[in-house]
Amino acid sequence: MSKEFDVLVIGGGPGGYVAAIRAAQLGFKTACCESNPYADPKGEPRLGGTCLNVGCIPSKALLHTSHMFEEAGHTFADQGINVGTPKIDVAKMVGRKNGIVDQLTSGIKGLFKKNKVTQLNGHGSFVGQKGDAWEVKVGDETVVAKQVIVATGSKARHLPGVPVDNKIVCDNVGALDLDAVPKKLAVIGAGVIGLEMGSVWRRLGSEVTVLEAMPDFLAATDKDVAKEALKIFTKQGLNINLGVKIGEVKVGKKNVSISYTDKDGAEHKLDADRLIVSVGRVPNTDGLNAEAVGLKLNERGMIEVDDHCRTNLPGVWAVGDVVRGPMLAHKAMEEGIMVAEVMAGQAGHCDFNTVPWVIYTSPEIAWVGKTEQQLKAEGIDFRAGKIPFAFNGRAMGMAAPDGFVKMLADAKTDRILGVHIVGANASEMIAEAVVAMEFAGSSEDLARICHAHPTMSEVVHEAGLAVLKRPLHA
Ligand code: FAD
Ligand code: NAI
Repeated sequence: MSKEFDVLVIGGGPGGYVAAIRAAQLGFKTACCESNPYADPKGEPRLGGTCLNVGCIPSKALLHTSHMFEEAGHTFADQGINVGTPKIDVAKMVGRKNGIVDQLTSGIKGLFKKNKVTQLNGHGSFVGQKGDAWEVKVGDETVVAKQVIVATGSKARHLPGVPVDNKIVCDNVGALDLDAVPKKLAVIGAGVIGLEMGSVWRRLGSEVTVLEAMPDFLAATDKDVAKEALKIFTKQGLNINLGVKIGEVKVGKKNVSISYTDKDGAEHKLDADRLIVSVGRVPNTDGLNAEAVGLKLNERGMIEVDDHCRTNLPGVWAVGDVVRGPMLAHKAMEEGIMVAEVMAGQAGHCDFNTVPWVIYTSPEIAWVGKTEQQLKAEGIDFRAGKIPFAFNGRAMGMAAPDGFVKMLADAKTDRILGVHIVGANASEMIAEAVVAMEFAGSSEDLARICHAHPTMSEVVHEAGLAVLKRPLHA
């Protein structure tokens, strides 16, 4: 006997669980299947996907603890707080992180119950079509649903010849669970994970060397931002090497040795206690049995979708990391909501141009919209305003004077085209820029809006004034 639903969501990450909740709210009889190995105390796979189990949330918990540790060791004394040399209890830090994961993943279970979403435990794979519905195998059961939302997410890309055991050589999973602070930590890939996890372990005392293949640092970010961030991270002690080519990686019982060629062609050998490989992520489409139903994938294994996340099959949708666009939890959630609403005959909406990016280093990096380089390449005439936090009283009081806000606006219409922030709490400040851009706001709009004093957001206000060439405090 097969189970029947209006909507089956495959994958319980941010894309999937949000799509399932919204579909149920809209009156669809909805199930969501999940098959990850992160079992809860009942032995059921935890909901929340990469984000809650081995991504956004655990990494931010470790970033917070390591930030506190660094503050205690470096900036407390300047403010007259003498606590001596702080010591880190790694097991306790990781335990706290695991507690947060437990709480949030079981919270999603509660949300499923509240919204009447059925959780199915098991791997989902297509079987075929049954009338106008789809037959999907979930574990040992068969589920039939008219609408299927594939939200199977992504996993870490690994390098050939570099076996990940998540003990000595780690991807994101092991990097969040080290049992001690490595004396020497190597990181391959200076992207988002490399910088966030490299920062965690550097703050706790590791000597961190980052090896990046690209000649430019954070190539997708605005060049001013990348330059400022590289300067600050290097001063903090992250040893970032650009333009390298990784050679042989030898893994021992307690350490690892990485041969690489630097940007000038000189050969090096780096010995480390642990290695984190963070070279991007690949979509989870293997095991979906996509070929059985003719679900179209692109050459990178991602499911092909249109602007509303429709696949080539009627009634089959795909959202989140498994499709094109940035691999971000909030983008996955937006797509999940959009699909549920479009299925219900409503107008779904997801604007990629206003999806914010945040890198949770210290200082944080956040941006939305176009970079100066993109605008130049597209021949768009723009004006820029850039104001440092060093002039801001709140930033000084918080001992966080590093960084700036840079605003880019159309030269003719003044419409905001991009906002780029390096600075403490950039993750929160960027929301104002997102709202302004969603409402087609101008730099003058932000310059005329009253901002609370003293706050770091006053620098966003001042950057708006700087676009208009009339800053008041710089
Ligand atoms: P996922 O979260 O990957 O969820 C997919 C789920 O589907 C998984 O639970 C998987 O087990 C399940 N699944 C796969 N195949 C099947 C199948 N056939 N049957 C049943 N279940 C299946 N993004 C941010 O926006 N902010 C951050 O701060 C951030 N930090 C990150 C830190 C790290 C270390 C990592 C690795 C990622 C981070 N991300 C962050 C990215 C974010 O985690 C992803 O973009 C997001 O989780 C994607 O959501 P998703 O639902 O598409 O996929
Ligand atoms: P990434 O794409 O951010 O960075 C990978 C880096 O590795 C790139 O700079 C790339 O040039 C480099 N690289 C690739 N191959 C290499 C090689 N052979 N040798 C040396 N360097 C190499 O990917 P990352 O850090 O793995 O993160 C994956 C994704 O997860 C991110 O793109 C992002 O979408 C998401 N994420 C988001 C976070 C956030 O929003 N704060 C935090 C962490 C991850």
